[in-house]
Amino acid sequence: MSLLIKNIKKLIQCRTDKISFVSGEDMSFLPSIDNAYLYVKDGKINDFGKMQDLKNINTDQVIDAKGRMVLPSWCDSHTHIVFSGNRSKEFIDRIKGLSYEEIAARGGGILNSARLLQNTSKEDLYNQSKMRIESVIRQGTGAIEIKSGYGLTFESELKMLQVIKEIKENSKMQVKSTFLGAHACPNEFKDDKEGYINLVLQKMLPEFSKNNLIDFIDVFCEKGYFSTDDTERIVKQGLKYNIRSKIHVNQFNILGGIKIAVENNALSVDHLEVLEENDIKILSEGSTIPVVLPTCSYFLGINYAPARKLIDSGLPLAIASDFNPGSSPSGNMNFVISTACTKMKLTTEEAINAATINGAYAMGLEDKVGSISKDKIANLIITNKINSIDEIPYNFGGNQIHKIILKGELIS
Ligand code: NIG
Ligand code: FE
Repeated sequence: MSLLIKNIKKLIQCRTDKISFVSGEDMSFLPSIDNAYLYVKDGKINDFGKMQDLKNINTDQVIDAKGRMVLPSWCDSHTHIVFSGNRSKEFIDRIKGLSYEEIAARGGGILNSARLLQNTSKEDLYNQSKMRIESVIRQGTGAIEIKSGYGLTFESELKMLQVIKEIKENSKMQVKSTFLGAHACPNEFKDDKEGYINLVLQKMLPEFSKNNLIDFIDVFCEKGYFSTDDTERIVKQGLKYNIRSKIHVNQFNILGGIKIAVENNALSVDHLEVLEENDIKILSEGSTIPVVLPTCSYFLGINYAPARKLIDSGLPLAIASDFNPGSSPSGNMNFVISTACTKMKLTTEEAINAATINGAYAMGLEDKVGSISKDKIANLIITNKINSIDEIPYNFGGNQIHKIILKGELIS
């Protein structure tokens, strides 16, 4: 199967040099080709360039972009898209004045979602999740990381990871799976957190890793959840199975999780709504990418992570949706990009880099997706007729997507 897209007004995020991510000042540069073509063969980007250089190509299908723009699909490196039901009641409780932490302390929050998921069959969980997967595909996401963490028992964590595996096998998106057994301590272990961590590390991790169900390991490093000592144990144990970590840190409190993550070669540290100068210094000396979640701050009404400061310090940055039933019940990356611009003061170029190449890096997919580069998977967005890329974040709440292509195939 081959496909030629011609008369592209602007082909965005063209990278001929092999780069893994972009950092600091380089994030404000989004290499593009005006009046371009793009040729896709067997699901991969085969060639691209200026229309005037287009030679006679034998192709099965031609799309005349007629002045539309083309860019790589969004790479959403932090989601909890597999969950059961919803928590709209807690949303109303928050509107009436309770905080996220107060709701969790009353037995709501993650434990509420865990109860729901434990009582949901694998088939039902798959079907509920598939609907959300289809909706984020329509919104331009072409690669996604999905966490477990609403099971909190061996059986239910296994059920979640099996559903993620099924999504991996059946969806046209690129999918990475993260084991987040240490998302919250379940009630059965209320007075024995140590016992729960042992279950996670001695039973779940070996079994799930043996069955190839996990690509990464995660911990919610936060007051009332898991301490820095717990985090260190979990991250180190992951490394024994050759599994790198991506961890939830600095959402509400600064505990020191960033140092542990960086020292243990974590792939990413995510959230960072509260951050101190020293954390930025530690990140600058390591190779862990910061991932910020603007729509989580929007929905909970908490601090926005200091994304501007992270970029101005020379760091790379990825942005992700955090799609989950409690703190960000939306996987709309167009809104994530828009919110990163309006609330975190990123430019359009920085936000698109954060949502494509850097998002791909933050889930270990930088060789496969995230830029228009030869041999990468042809996961593409064809935009509406727009005059400038700034119309992407400007159109907040909507999107500028005309058509989606995944693995070189038009998605209807
Ligand atoms: O990334 N902060 C921890 N985990 C999720 C929220 C989980 C939930 O409320 O269900 C997050 O925001
Ligand atoms: Fe999260």
